[in-house]
Amino acid sequence: MKCRKCGTSAVINMRQHKLALCGEHYVEWFAGQTERVIEKYKMFSRDERILVAVSGGKDSLSLWDVLLRLGYQADGLYIGLGINAPLPYSDASLEMTHKFLASDVWRVASDESRVTDDGDASPAIRNSQFAIPNFTPTLHVVDVPATYGKSIPEISREKMRGQGRPCAACGLTKRYVMNRLAHDQGYTVLATGHNLDDEVAVLFQNTLRWQLGYLARQAPILPASHEGLTRKVKPFCRFYERETAAYALVRGIEYIYDECPHATGNQMNFHKTLLNQLETESPGAKLAFYLEFLRARGEGAFTLYNATETLHACEICGQPTSAPGRCAFCRMWDVSRVVG
Ligand code: AMP
Ligand code: FES
Ligand code: ZN
Ligand code: ZN
Repeated sequence: MKCRKCGTSAVINMRQHKLALCGEHYVEWFAGQTERVIEKYKMFSRDERILVAVSGGKDSLSLWDVLLRLGYQADGLYIGLGINAPLPYSDASLEMTHKFLASDVWRVASDESRVTDDGDASPAIRNSQFAIPNFTPTLHVVDVPATYGKSIPEISREKMRGQGRPCAACGLTKRYVMNRLAHDQGYTVLATGHNLDDEVAVLFQNTLRWQLGYLARQAPILPASHEGLTRKVKPFCRFYERETAAYALVRGIEYIYDECPHATGNQMNFHKTLLNQLETESPGAKLAFYLEFLRARGEGAFTLYNATETLHACEICGQPTSAPGRCAFCRMWDVSRVVG
């Protein structure tokens, strides 16, 4: 397989785009596509400070890398969940994140990052300044056990009486910490590394149960609907998982391969397997499912279900909540005074 642009050996063949590219042209294409998504959904501008939630995995480290290369003021946030059994998952993820920052792989001379004028790159790509000279990103680390006294598996065991996976407690805690730090540190936008496979699996799950409220809220961008909330964006929502993995590989980004030990065998992974079978039979099926959903959503198919909740400040931490009194986070963690 040859690169469509230069005829050298291709590193990736994207059947759904009928496009094979070499490493150099792939990195260029990937940055261009990311920029297009950022522009299309009006996610953020180069004047804004962006907080990237980095887990040490391929998606979020690639996202941080590509945003820096495109000249965005992107800082990172790593949340230590204390998931270290049976494998030191959290410790290893933090190490990968530190390694990425120390590797300098993200540091680009501004002329090197300029995408060649090949007609395919968006005007924004060709004309923008690219990597900000002398910008060194900050990594914020919030260690949950050190801050709140317990690891995620511990708080989950305590609250769920040993039943079920810790993923619900984990999701609630991550969302809270991300929003709180973004707000406290003055970031207007929070970016996560969710890819197309993630988004399609969630869409499939919500569709199977016709959870119209969830469908109404599933989008590449969620505006800050209330004072104290931060805009949430998913610039990689149109990339297949194998595309973000290929980007990390070509860019020499080391990342944690293992997934969270608690995710093994969960329903989301089962749905991902089903959807992969569909994709093998019908290349592009996942992308079409997602994009057609966004089109229908954009045309107002779910507007009726877009409930606007009345939020007020949590009496302990001040974060917006729909619950009376303490927010779900403060209740779960039995917080009775401001922590962190
Ligand atoms: P996941 O829910 O594990 O598929 O992760 C989805 C996205 O959430 C990742 O791409 C990251 O942007 C973010 N994320 C997940 N875990 C963490 C973490 N421990 N710290 C910071 N961000 C995270
Ligand atoms: Fe949160 Fe697995 S990453 S429980
Ligand atoms: Zn090429
Ligand atoms: Zn609270």
